[in-house]
Amino acid sequence: MVKAVVLGASGGIGQPLSLLLKASPLVDELALYDVVNTPGVAADLSHISSIAKVSGYLPADDGLKHALTGADIVVIPAGIPRKPGMTRDDLFKINAGIVQTLAKGIAEHSPKAFVLIISNPVNSTVPIAAEVLKAAGVFDPKRVFGVTTLDVVRSETFTQEFTGQKDPAQTVIPVIGGHSGETIVPLFSQAKPAVTIPADRYDTLINRVQFGGDEVVKAKDGAGSATLSMAYAGFRFAQSVIKAAKGEKGIVEPTFIYLPGVEGGDAIRKQTGVDFFSVPVELGTSGAEKAIDILGVVTDQEKKLIDTAIQGLKGNIEKGIDFVKNPPAK
Ligand code: NAD
Ligand code: LMR
Repeated sequence: MVKAVVLGASGGIGQPLSLLLKASPLVDELALYDVVNTPGVAADLSHISSIAKVSGYLPADDGLKHALTGADIVVIPAGIPRKPGMTRDDLFKINAGIVQTLAKGIAEHSPKAFVLIISNPVNSTVPIAAEVLKAAGVFDPKRVFGVTTLDVVRSETFTQEFTGQKDPAQTVIPVIGGHSGETIVPLFSQAKPAVTIPADRYDTLINRVQFGGDEVVKAKDGAGSATLSMAYAGFRFAQSVIKAAKGEKGIVEPTFIYLPGVEGGDAIRKQTGVDFFSVPVELGTSGAEKAIDILGVVTDQEKKLIDTAIQGLKGNIEKGIDFVKNPPAK
């Protein structure tokens, strides 16, 4: 039996993500939580003739507690999205508090669940969730993931013109670092099957992956950021976590994790100097079972990108940790 929970289920990502989870044969129970509209979204989804039993909760009547109790996997797309001209860090002021509150709920009601954080800025919200869970004495680094799959999905899509593959997802491209601008580092040298990017197209391709989110924010022109591609990516990652938890072997996904708590993570932490970093992670029954160190095999160009990413990440991570340790005056 798998109970999946979506926190922020009525939003632009939350609704299509909930649809994909409802349609998945891997999910037996689906609980939707949001500050608005979940009764309607749950009623609508409940008419779909798939396995999952759907329920919707609002904050009233201990809704968060009821949604989370018994959860195996909790996906969090709650929080405000960007408008043109904003950075992901501009979302911190509002989203930090939202993720903190939801993480407290998880600590209390579903401390053993896998926690998948989509809310931006991911580079800071994952450290926030980790700090909250640590303070409650229930932090398991193998179970807390920053979802960076959209960067992987974009890399696959934008590289298709060079791979010639009909299905872009057949090319596996590790994306490491974090999830914002220059902290996103696609490693095209590690693509499988191998792909050759013409030298005069490399910088443009890197830039498009790093700033793919801005492309959507600009096109939506004030109506938000990526929602449908994110729902696809969030579902793809959630599905991998569930399949691995059910015992499927050999599933590897890049994800933003707390390195010191995952096998293989310490070596990567020593090289990067940061506690949180996205790397390909082998998933298993207990979550993030092994962080795969691919830093040693990168090109000189990629090494420079990684150095820049680390500089950006340090401040983002500190900001998240500090938010919990030294709460801002209200
Ligand atoms: P949205 O505004 O459409 O939806 C957000 C939902 O969160 C709303 O329904 C809102 O009511 C709900 N919410 C707000 N406060 C809440 C709380 N305390 N508890 C529960 N729910 C709450 O936004 P969206 O487009 O779905 O984006 C959501 C977040 O995901 C944003 O922060 C966005 O930047 C981020 N995002 C991340 C990625 C990624 O790759 N990780 C990609 C796209 C978007
Ligand atoms: C994305 O990469 O699309 C998301 O992080 C949303 C954003 O703000 O760009």
